[in-house]
Amino acid sequence: MSFFRQIFGQHQRKPSSHVRASSSLRIGIAMPTTTVRRWLDDGHNLEKGLQAKGFVVERHYAGDDVLQQIAQIRTMVANGAVALVIAAIDGGALHSVLEEAAAKGIKILAYDRLLTHTPHLDFYVSFDNFQVGVLQAESIVQALKLNQGGGPYNLEIFGGTPDDNNAHLFHAGAMSVLRPYLEHHKILVPSNELEMQQVSTMRWYSTLAVSRMISLLNRHYQDRRLHAVLSPLDGISIGILDSLKAMGYGKPGRPLPVVSGQDAEVPSIRSIAAGEQSSTIFKDTRALALSAADIVDELLAGRAPVHDPTQSYDNKTKRVPTRLLPPVLVTASNYHEVLIESGYIMAADL
Ligand code: BGC
Repeated sequence: MSFFRQIFGQHQRKPSSHVRASSSLRIGIAMPTTTVRRWLDDGHNLEKGLQAKGFVVERHYAGDDVLQQIAQIRTMVANGAVALVIAAIDGGALHSVLEEAAAKGIKILAYDRLLTHTPHLDFYVSFDNFQVGVLQAESIVQALKLNQGGGPYNLEIFGGTPDDNNAHLFHAGAMSVLRPYLEHHKILVPSNELEMQQVSTMRWYSTLAVSRMISLLNRHYQDRRLHAVLSPLDGISIGILDSLKAMGYGKPGRPLPVVSGQDAEVPSIRSIAAGEQSSTIFKDTRALALSAADIVDELLAGRAPVHDPTQSYDNKTKRVPTRLLPPVLVTASNYHEVLIESGYIMAADL
């Protein structure tokens, strides 16, 4: 089966049987920010997918500002939304506004990021976020040839924002792979900063990660070489690579470390093609948006969207029925097939 069909085939559904009934029903889309490219694509693809089913769509971006996101959701409730698709900034901060929405019978779908500490959530659709972390760490293990007995190597760990449940899953998945190498001293972390509260990056801001990278280099790498960086997000990876170059890496005798990433952003694919960033994770946001549009349709029709019960998530208040899509590791050897042949990135953009 071709890669394209593997990704799309399993999530493609027959067109809705009640397109006419949905016409003029309003769906609210709450997106977190426009600063990470994927959310623009997610919002656009969600809007297209929902409009194709006959829904009217209202879409907002909240500039990574939690209070603004709450206000936007309230506006969509007041404007008569019958369902909300929410990619939260702080997944635990929306309980009150979700309660108001649920009291009106509005269906609530958590999109990509889990909504936590609330019973007012009908469904969660995302990628297998633990597996994202596993793939990121495995890419480092492979690039350093640790599974063939290399090491010890110096690694530093970066995490995402602590109020995004995904960031904890990425970190947990990565640590599940790295732990045995840490225990056998094949990987060393000279800063000794391993836990989420030590390595997190508020709001995923790459400037914060860059400051931390520079500080780590100054404090722990005067007499050592850094061999690898676990980076959770492409924007952070590019910032870290730039700061490493400014600190003398990327020259003969001092190669750039192995650096992971996520989101298959164009600058990172260029960097991978140029032999700098080592890997990224492709999460097909087109498939996620299509899946979300189907789920909204099913919820409004009073049907339970198809999901695997073993994948349900505990959101700290209840178990939430969940559908997870597969992430794919991208390196220099497969970016053409995975991203360009699937039409996710145009060759001309690289
Ligand atoms: C998403 C990532 C994204 C990050 C920063 C996470 O919740 O799963 O794809 O890179 O947020 O926006």
